Amino acid sequence: MERHGIPPTEKMRGLKCRECGTMYPLEPMNVCSLCFGPLEVDYDYEALRGRVTRQSIAAGPKNLWRYRDLLPIGEVTDPDFGVGFTPLFKAHRLGERLGLSNLYIKNDTANPTWSFKDRVVSVAVAKAIEFGFDTVACASTGNLGNAVAAQAARRGLKCFIFMPADLELPKIVGTLIFRPTLVAVKGNYDAVNRLCAEVSATMNWGFVNINLRSYYSEGSKTLGFEVVEQLGWRVPDHIIVPMASGSLLTKVWKSLKEMERLGLIGEVPTKVHGAQAAGCSPIVTAFKEKAEFVRPVKPNTIVKSLAIGNPADGIYAVRAIRESGGLAEAVTDEEVVDGIKTLAETEGLFTETAGGVTIATVKKLVRQKVIGPDDIVVALITGCGFKTQEVLTDRLEEPMIVEPRLTAFQEQLALRVIS
Ligand SMILES: Cc1ncc(COP(=O)(O)O)c(C=O)c1O
Ligand SMILES: [Zn+2]
Repeated sequence: MERHGIPPTEKMRGLKCRECGTMYPLEPMNVCSLCFGPLEVDYDYEALRGRVTRQSIAAGPKNLWRYRDLLPIGEVTDPDFGVGFTPLFKAHRLGERLGLSNLYIKNDTANPTWSFKDRVVSVAVAKAIEFGFDTVACASTGNLGNAVAAQAARRGLKCFIFMPADLELPKIVGTLIFRPTLVAVKGNYDAVNRLCAEVSATMNWGFVNINLRSYYSEGSKTLGFEVVEQLGWRVPDHIIVPMASGSLLTKVWKSLKEMERLGLIGEVPTKVHGAQAAGCSPIVTAFKEKAEFVRPVKPNTIVKSLAIGNPADGIYAVRAIRESGGLAEAVTDEEVVDGIKTLAETEGLFTETAGGVTIATVKKLVRQKVIGPDDIVVALITGCGFKTQEVLTDRLEEPMIVEPRLTAFQEQLALRVIS
């Protein structure tokens, strides 16, 4: 397999402060020392133009590394783990139910630890190894912890995962199985994150969403690249993105603008819509209030994966939504469960609560006529329902319990309405 892409020195100029533009070297750091703004990888698009083409991408492997020239890494050192290039499929039955003729589902539950976080972690762990860290760590609402622990195991790195202590059991087991040190913090994600910022300053670790954040977050661009490539290089009219820190949405928008800039696609018409649970919707509130900053909230929702009350990239998500002409919407926990069930019943896909937020938001935007019946719509399903089964307790039809006799089955069947 071809592993060599464009060398880092030719494609990246350094890290650049998003606020004041100060440049920094490509090191494990994420905050500007002058203004405390976040740092972002600065690519040399002139150097990339003409070298990154539809053909060069198509020649790459069928995983996220096909976009390696637009990622902040040197050589691809773990090409076969199977992250990315997840299915994009047309949702005929869900589309029919919602009155949409061109609805597509991007199924990112098909990643190794069943969420899109495998993408960001692939880039972060590659970077941690490049920087020579022997330990990786993260603050997580669940999915990130699963992904970091898995890839640390695979790469033989020591690993510390910090999570709120009250997370769903499958997210805890799905971390512990990889034998990291799991630190269950008695507090919500925002408390976990604050603790991690302090820990990170005292340890020489690769903290994927702290000192490696500028690199890690770039991995989310691959979702946007894939959607467009899988649509045959067509650009959708709408993409609906669930938001926690707001990073995924910001990077999906960035991916579209990068493709435009490199001439891979024409002008981007896409409206990027942000979705949150009403019980934790600081980004939606900031968008609706046309605010210039995001006011932190205390989360209270069943959607634990999105329960970040003080979102690190919130204001950048607001700006990306505005720039794209999209909207931000919040949906209730009831609507989330309904979204999970609707997707499962119509498309055979079991999403976690974050995907329920996405589907409920699509429904809402259709009702509001923001999305038209023939628009090309892509809904991002970013995590798997087997991790959040507890929200469905008492919300599914009871099984038919029968003695192992045909007559017993027939008696029970007669009592049921089968739809
Ligand atoms: C399943 C799922 N979808 C979406 C998100 C949102 O990601 P971001 O923090 O980049 O906004 C998360 C974050 O944890 C998640 O777990
Ligand atoms: Zn700055």
